[in-house]
Amino acid sequence: MYIEKMSGRSRVMQYGARRQLLLPLADGKMAGAIVRCFLIPKRHLGLFGATLNNQSHRTFADAAPEGKKCGSPLADADRIFTNLYGRHDWRLKGALQRGDWYKTKEIIEKGADWIINEIKVSGLRGRGGAGFPSGMKWSFMNKPSDGRPKYLVVNGDEGEPGTCKDREILRHDPHKLVEGCLIAGRAMGACAAYIYIRGEFYNEASNMQVAIAEAYQAGLIGKNACNSGYDFDIFVQRGAGAYICGEETALIESIEGKQGKPRLKPPFPADVGLFGCPTTVTNVETVAVAPTICRRGGTWFASFGRPRNHGTKLFNISGHVNNPCTVEEEMSIPLKELIERHAGGVIGGWDNLLGVIPGGSSTPVIPKSVCDTVLLDFDDLIRVQSSFGTAAVIVMNKQTDIIKAITRLISFYQHESCGQCTPCREGISWMYKILRRFVDGNAEEHEIDMLWELTKQIELHTICALADGKIVKPRVINVSVHKMKIDAIVESFLCNNPDPR
Ligand SMILES: Cc1cc2nc3c(=O)[nH]c(=O)nc-3n(C[C@H](O)[C@H](O)[C@H](O)COP(=O)(O)O)c2cc1C
Ligand code: SF4
Repeated sequence: MYIEKMSGRSRVMQYGARRQLLLPLADGKMAGAIVRCFLIPKRHLGLFGATLNNQSHRTFADAAPEGKKCGSPLADADRIFTNLYGRHDWRLKGALQRGDWYKTKEIIEKGADWIINEIKVSGLRGRGGAGFPSGMKWSFMNKPSDGRPKYLVVNGDEGEPGTCKDREILRHDPHKLVEGCLIAGRAMGACAAYIYIRGEFYNEASNMQVAIAEAYQAGLIGKNACNSGYDFDIFVQRGAGAYICGEETALIESIEGKQGKPRLKPPFPADVGLFGCPTTVTNVETVAVAPTICRRGGTWFASFGRPRNHGTKLFNISGHVNNPCTVEEEMSIPLKELIERHAGGVIGGWDNLLGVIPGGSSTPVIPKSVCDTVLLDFDDLIRVQSSFGTAAVIVMNKQTDIIKAITRLISFYQHESCGQCTPCREGISWMYKILRRFVDGNAEEHEIDMLWELTKQIELHTICALADGKIVKPRVINVSVHKMKIDAIVESFLCNNPDPR
């Protein structure tokens, strides 16, 4: 894909809070049209190449690349995680039978530039929540050595309510991650990987440790890994269950034996990370898909999903569905299709749907009217003012008390704030208290605006995204989406209590 020209049809558009450039792009490979229009945030031009945000691009079938079967489930042959449900042997023998560790030596010998290029071609975006392009992120490490060792840190903290994908990899497919560490580590020129595993994940940490020991014993990692001449070690570090330790700099602090509190940035971990050395922190799923991408080719991975939203992805579906599950599917699958095909549909039927939290509990709720058509990928969820996050879909039907549900989530984030920043520490507590009054029916009407104002006071005034992105923005939108509901609650309260003071 490339930008053909900036013709008279190019124009600047307002998109959310940002101004964006509308450019005509040539994309001969896409089904349905030869020339399409893409919305490109100005700051992304030249960063990701072309950025898709085609408002008219509504269906999965339309979005699928030419030659690909549209609207059908992901074929078994295209699954990366072939032991997701733990039905087969997770140890080295089983992993070898499933194709792991195949030609790893050759991949390592192709070198850092080749691996990074393949990851760039694949279009892989980080699976930890932010969706940053992985090839680019890994390339930040690939600079001449200044004598300090470089480290890869794998984020297996997975504390976000609703998210339960990394644990399946850790316990059922640990060799995918061990091999991924070696390949990603080679791409970054790292000498070692630290896999940080959430404290509660006992079985996961234990299986991971066994897999690492097997890999050492078979000469796959350690000195002269896979007989490639490259030395690479892997260590497991268990956390103690704090959600904030999933934030990359808090995680680094925690590995260093300190309290898990986020660091001010800059410096970024790629300059000063673990033990003061260049470090990249990346999610378990992101690392675990790297070997398959290198074996099958970046273009294979890029053939799934819409442009800029490529690949297969692990989705967690929980809440009011008939069959909660974790499943690997193609990116950009319509939300409705995912829920109905894999999770047995919404309890009480699709019309009984109230809304969905699409990417883990920190992402904004989308109401049913949006759920009807939205595609599950980074760009479409941004378009509807939510976020793809970790692709942990939490379904709420009409029997849900939405205010109560949000209040419960806010109480989680209030508890998990590390307390360094006053707006986060105090602000989230205030938000919780106000919301609690809504739940109990003790709220006053002006508190709706007060809640809104409070979120704005917290936003952009904190060190990390727990309060900033993870709490404030979602709640602002939650409050706006459900303002009418709050209004109704307050109204009924006022009817029953004509003079609340
Ligand atoms: C409060 C907070 C919690 C986070 N928790 C996790 C987590 O449990 N797992 C994870 O991979 N990333 C988590 N992240 C994102 C990481 O900071 C980091 O962006 C991610 O691990 C990068 O991996 P990726 O490039 O593969 O997406 C969290 C971020 C914040 C602000
Ligand atoms: S925003 Fe909250 S969690 Fe993040 S550093 Fe500040 S106080 Fe800690």
